[in-house]
Amino acid sequence: MGKYSCEKCAKTFSQKSHYDKHLTRKNPCEIQTDKIKALIDKAVEEKLIELNKKLTSNNIENNFTINVTEQMTEQMTEQMTEQMDISKMSKLELMKKCKELGITKCSSKNKSQLLELITSKRSIHNISNNDINASVENNKMTLQTDVLPQSVVLLQSVVLLQSDCKIINYIDLCCGIGGFRVALENFQKKNTNFKFNCVLSADIKDDAIRTYNLNFNENNKKTDILDIDEIGSGFDLLCAGFPCQPFSSAGQKKGFDDDRGGIIFKIIDICKKYKPRVVILENVSNLIILENGKPLKKICDEFKNIDYFVSYKKLNATDFGVPQNRERVFIVCSLEKQIDLDKIEHVNPDNTLNSIIDHSAKYTDIETGFANKIMDLHSQTPLFGYKMQDKRGGQNNIHSWDIGVNGVLTMDERSLMNKIMTERRKKHWAEKKNIVWMDGMPLTLSEISTFVDDPNLKQMLDNLVAKNYLRLEKPKNLISGKRVYDETGELGYNICKGKLSFPITNILDPTATSPTLTATDSNKLAVIIDNTFIRKLNDNELKLLCGFPLSYKLPVDVDKYDLFGNMVIPNVVEGVLKCVF
Ligand SMILES: C[S@@+](CC[C@H](N)C(=O)[O-])C[C@H]1O[C@@H](n2cnc3c(N)ncnc32)[C@H](O)[C@@H]1O
Repeated sequence: MGKYSCEKCAKTFSQKSHYDKHLTRKNPCEIQTDKIKALIDKAVEEKLIELNKKLTSNNIENNFTINVTEQMTEQMTEQMTEQMDISKMSKLELMKKCKELGITKCSSKNKSQLLELITSKRSIHNISNNDINASVENNKMTLQTDVLPQSVVLLQSVVLLQSDCKIINYIDLCCGIGGFRVALENFQKKNTNFKFNCVLSADIKDDAIRTYNLNFNENNKKTDILDIDEIGSGFDLLCAGFPCQPFSSAGQKKGFDDDRGGIIFKIIDICKKYKPRVVILENVSNLIILENGKPLKKICDEFKNIDYFVSYKKLNATDFGVPQNRERVFIVCSLEKQIDLDKIEHVNPDNTLNSIIDHSAKYTDIETGFANKIMDLHSQTPLFGYKMQDKRGGQNNIHSWDIGVNGVLTMDERSLMNKIMTERRKKHWAEKKNIVWMDGMPLTLSEISTFVDDPNLKQMLDNLVAKNYLRLEKPKNLISGKRVYDETGELGYNICKGKLSFPITNILDPTATSPTLTATDSNKLAVIIDNTFIRKLNDNELKLLCGFPLSYKLPVDVDKYDLFGNMVIPNVVEGVLKCVF
């Protein structure tokens, strides 16, 4: 950081000669009110944080904030303007100025020496928190400074005190793209007596941290929270959407046996050491029922053991104005009181996707052949709210054989596919094959012939294999908790396409809500616009469907579907914050 700062434009210089040259340049620089205001704001804010910390450690409850207003900055810059154009002054005027500033023994100096004396007297070097003295008396705070004589000194008379203002330092662990932070910023905008100050943000994912930095104008490095030894600043609040894979119903439900379950223990260790007043954790709602609630109970007990009151509740984003059906468990720990999450306020719970779909975005970004097949079917039967998968059925489901994704099929072949799809899930086939039942076993020609009576059966099955609707495989048995092929088993026909094999998994119904966005399939949720175009969710729709502002920026090269599939919905966090603060 430079030692000398220009009072007008706030540019800094480490060498005095460069600074002098800047002051006497032919085209004088412009007064940068914003920069000066920012410098003062920053210094005042740092002072306030320091002061509040002192107050906290002295068990004084009040927190203080101060606003350096536009008007103050204007007054200051006006005074500076008056004083600044010294380079244009005559020697006589300069001597007069010296006198005003209390500079003595200047009669023998030439013009440039006088200039130097005046500027060095008035050089603001970067305003820092040390240049500001704060004192609190009778619930009134005074800030004083002697930098920028006759200008910042105005601060002496500017005393803004809101004794119910709270500065809350927080850390954002496993921060992802900052759902917690967006929520805290929203909450602060609506509750101006709160100032949330993020002192640490950590995430291990490059895309996430780059997106986070871009939006919050920071320079956080990719960080594994397991590597955090010390947290430099004190903090009152810890937020973390800790990794959910070990608990999610989509994952293998390994719970604490999975390594990633370990992150919660790191979070607990951090709380043990730093004792933040409040901890807000988010995870998949499956955590509540996993292993009859054992892992959740363990987490709660660990926090209770270190003196926290613990509450948890399953909350759905649809109850907070966001048309995404996303159930998550929120665990809130407080050192002061039991937080009553049952009193959480629901907001606009009837919101539908129509409120976020951009009906003016008319294009198709799904492979044309596939899109045309879907739209043909849509012209016969409206497909809003339909799913697309081969291994399950149901009324509102499209199978790849319905639209001939891998080639058109006869009615008999389609009917055969439907029968195999249902039969392969039945328990008695497992007994016959002498394997532990699994949902979707291959069936042999003779097994299929027990429920399909058609002389062309073998020919049809071969055609379905050739077109990649079916594949031949051995059954799998369950050995030591793992599915492995039973090499003694007979080859059978099985459905080969999982739901992620298709360009889309769901066609959203604009009059309803969307399913949970996940990292793996949020890029497969489709909307139909004007009954003509089928496309994926665009950037703005993703943001709104997750409760993020449209101003939220996305770098072009990140996997936005992965990031938004993992985030915490700010609206829900805001609801929790209202219960806590
Ligand atoms: C469920 S997401 C939370 C997302 C976040 N709440 C948001 O709003 O975007 C879990 C996050 O934890 C991060 N993560 C996983 N392991 C981590 C670790 N060891 N250290 C730091 N972050 C980690 C992942 O990269 C992911 O972004």
